[in-house]
Amino acid sequence: MTVQELDSPLKVLYERIAPFTGPDPEMDSIASALADLGMDDEYGSYVLSQVEPGSLKQVHVPEQGPALLVVYSGPGRIPPIHSHRTWAALAPITGVETHRQYELVDHTHERATLRKIDERRVTKGQTVTITPPRDIHDHGHIEGTGDPACFFVLTGINQLIHPREQYVYPEGPYRIIEPGRFYAPKE
Ligand SMILES: [Fe+2]
Repeated sequence: MTVQELDSPLKVLYERIAPFTGPDPEMDSIASALADLGMDDEYGSYVLSQVEPGSLKQVHVPEQGPALLVVYSGPGRIPPIHSHRTWAALAPITGVETHRQYELVDHTHERATLRKIDERRVTKGQTVTITPPRDIHDHGHIEGTGDPACFFVLTGINQLIHPREQYVYPEGPYRIIEPGRFYAPKE
């Protein structure tokens, strides 16, 4: 599918981010465009009708270039800590997503030690972005922080054809996630 064939809100998003997604991405501009998509109530209602809590859907995943998913966090669930090996931005349509970032303190070829360096709650109109190599993170829903979030995730490359890493906090085995595997919030 080309940008010309996308739904209008997605076409606007891809046209807005196009100048900023090169080798040195301009994350503030990308995040601003994604936040605006999250605040589009009409498109948000449509997206919410398409995805169940605790699941995700691919919205636009070209073989090359930025890929867009929608994720609906399950109550009280945070999937494993991971990286994407590319930039990523997250923007809620509804609910509250807790996003935590980690720093690699030490690692061997099998195990890694992490330190948490940031934790924030993200709601509609807000975004969080990450760029390698500082891109070890997790995100999900924590009981008592509001309703689980449904949110857009935009990544610089298609995660169906590129591997990622997965970690255990604060210390544990570190492994490669094979291309195409997604850790949905219910896992
Ligand atoms: Fe992620």
